[in-house]
Amino acid sequence: MWAVAVCGALTAVLAVWMLCSRAVWDAKGKVREMLMQRVLITGGSQGLGLALAQRLASKGAHVVICSRSAPKLERALAEVEAARVDRAQELRYVVADVSTMRGAAEAVAQCGAVPDAVFCCAGGAKPGFFVEQEERDFEAAVRTDYFTALWTAHASAKAMIAAGVRGRIVLVSSVVGLMGLVGYAQYAPMKYAIRGLAECLRSEFVLYGIAVQCYFPATILSPGFDEEQKTKPQITKDIEGADDQKTPAQCAACLVRGVERGHFCITDGLVGTLLRVSSGGSAPGHGLLCDTLLQIPARWALLAWRRFVADRMVERARVHK
Ligand SMILES: NC(=O)c1ccc[n+]([C@@H]2O[C@H](COP(=O)([O-])OP(=O)(O)OC[C@H]3O[C@@H](n4cnc5c(N)ncnc54)[C@H](OP(=O)(O)O)[C@@H]3O)[C@@H](O)[C@H]2O)c1
Repeated sequence: MWAVAVCGALTAVLAVWMLCSRAVWDAKGKVREMLMQRVLITGGSQGLGLALAQRLASKGAHVVICSRSAPKLERALAEVEAARVDRAQELRYVVADVSTMRGAAEAVAQCGAVPDAVFCCAGGAKPGFFVEQEERDFEAAVRTDYFTALWTAHASAKAMIAAGVRGRIVLVSSVVGLMGLVGYAQYAPMKYAIRGLAECLRSEFVLYGIAVQCYFPATILSPGFDEEQKTKPQITKDIEGADDQKTPAQCAACLVRGVERGHFCITDGLVGTLLRVSSGGSAPGHGLLCDTLLQIPARWALLAWRRFVADRMVERARVHK
């Protein structure tokens, strides 16, 4: 009896607390304002980053795209220009390798003014079997997938804090930042690390009024995905077969919607939603009632998929290896 009463009271307190904290995360007004301001997008020369740049340009933002290759950025900027809605918009690119502290600081410094929002889209996987990959593959993953996010967030936050900008930093993880899968030992741990980084920064940047959000896309049909397919083991392709594939433009639309709604964990399909609600920890959700109702079915569905679909496919592949 007492246990039921205590549980009921705790649930009520938690519900009130979640409802109150939603107001803090109801960043709609700020986001609308932000979209008219200055945005830096790393990995903006292709794929998700380019599609996002086009989308934000079409909403009237000043957009700076960044990557390591000037010719690719030239071509990409022409596509961003085509989405422009106002002559006053500043659309430009900066060439920088954001996998180093210095490169990321240069990228932020070259934005013209301190960005109001920074989207860390740079990244890329080289799938393969763990034991067949080499030292340089793992080192490349740390640089390309983790350090690009870490140093961009670091440089942006320092600039925002120094200028008193109550900005926004959006990190890009992946559904394999919420679940491990054969063939992704080089990449998935970096995307898990990005989630950890996002949670720490979300907590710490309350000190400065800087919002932090994290996007967990499934398959994006980008140039990076085409590159991945060249080394991806067949078993990984088979398991991903029925995965929720989206174009970069569709992903950019989901990402912007999630940012506008103030979601901390932004996902864009069924798999992402099931993973988000079943592994939420203390991260803010999308709605206490909805997430709670989904939690048990999501956990069961994922456990059943892992045991009866994914694991069995890997077991069958072992026979042929
Ligand atoms: N594709 C997918 O299926 C998928 C799924 C889940 C998550 N994601 C994640 O979503 C993000 C976008 O993926 P995508 O497939 O659209 O990208 P993509 O086509 O592989 O493009 C990657 C972008 O990052 C830039 N880049 C890479 N290293 C960089 C560095 N050190 N400094 C600056 N720029 C760098 C690349 O340009 P340069 O090479 O010219 O520098 C390019 O613009 C990535 O973080 C990826 O891990 C992708």
